[in-house]
Amino acid sequence: MAIKRRQLLILGGLAIGGGVGGAAVSGILSRKPEAITPADPKATTANNPKPAKSTVARSPNPAPKGLYAPARGDVRIVLISDLNSAYGSTDYIDQVKQAIVFVPAWEPDLVLCGGDMVAGQDNSLKPSEIEAMWQGFDKHIAAPIRKAKLPFGFTIGNHDASGSSFGGKSTFENDRNAVLKYWQDPKHDANLNFVDRAGFPFYYTFTQNDIFFLTWDASTSEIPSDQLKWAEKSLASEAAQKAKLRIAIGHLPLYAVAKGRETPGNYLDDADRLRALFEKYNVHTYISGHDHAYYPAHKGKLELLNAGVLGDGPRRLLSGDITPNRTVSVIDIKLETAETIYTTYDMDTLKVIDQSTLPRYIDAPNGRITRRDIKI
Ligand SMILES: [Fe+2]
Repeated sequence: MAIKRRQLLILGGLAIGGGVGGAAVSGILSRKPEAITPADPKATTANNPKPAKSTVARSPNPAPKGLYAPARGDVRIVLISDLNSAYGSTDYIDQVKQAIVFVPAWEPDLVLCGGDMVAGQDNSLKPSEIEAMWQGFDKHIAAPIRKAKLPFGFTIGNHDASGSSFGGKSTFENDRNAVLKYWQDPKHDANLNFVDRAGFPFYYTFTQNDIFFLTWDASTSEIPSDQLKWAEKSLASEAAQKAKLRIAIGHLPLYAVAKGRETPGNYLDDADRLRALFEKYNVHTYISGHDHAYYPAHKGKLELLNAGVLGDGPRRLLSGDITPNRTVSVIDIKLETAETIYTTYDMDTLKVIDQSTLPRYIDAPNGRITRRDIKI
């Protein structure tokens, strides 16, 4: 059945070759794209007045028992990404479940997810099967995070609700509908302090502890022009510019870092232009998923955090000889100096990854990015 599904998907990918956005196809799960489906503007609820404060106790260096315990910054984020398994899966591998159990012990202010929370992007899945995946996500991921009263920011991945389209029609309409239905259900409140939720859950902005977050729909390689205008307006806004820090997050990276992800469609089109947009508005970091390989980098004035994978399919970096791994990152932020400190755990060994073992730079197909600690 899995083979049949994959064959169908690949055929579908060929059929939509002229569609909007580059096709992202590779790995255990094939990948694909589309164009934004803006949410109903009437649904906009600007400035959700609810404060997004976690209620967990604070300690100087909180961490799960037995794990390295970094000193907490003014703000702490736990970053997870690419959680899914095989198409249609309603369950998660043990490393994902273990990470979710660990999350409250790190005492974060915010949990972020780089997308691919479920395993869709397969039109042989029935709507009931897609809904069952989101129920599985809720049971194993979202409900425990809600129970811990932690805000959950996320970006939509190609397997959650690919934005690809052909002839003006969404290629994965059932996925898009399911993601809307799930996230617009008040029972699934993400506990975010929204600034602009008109495009939620596809693109939106929120603040957390004086940091401005912009999430866009990078489930395909093309950010549509209307969403780019929205992003620029959002980043130029008073809410963004008066914040101590700005962070953007999208599923596809600007520059590929992993083998099998270096083909067009697997990274954003016109990356340099998008980077220039972020630099213009002093965005500190762009966080992405999709590549299934952890790599903290910088290019120009922008930091790039490739979140790595927590679920199935770790990948090799384009350079170096590091064994592929599954990761969770704790990001501690010092607001006054805009310093971000990453503690990234290998979720198979529970050891902290030594940044110096990562390649000093990676030559992505669209430009070289440099490890974040290496000055150029
Ligand atoms: Fe992906």
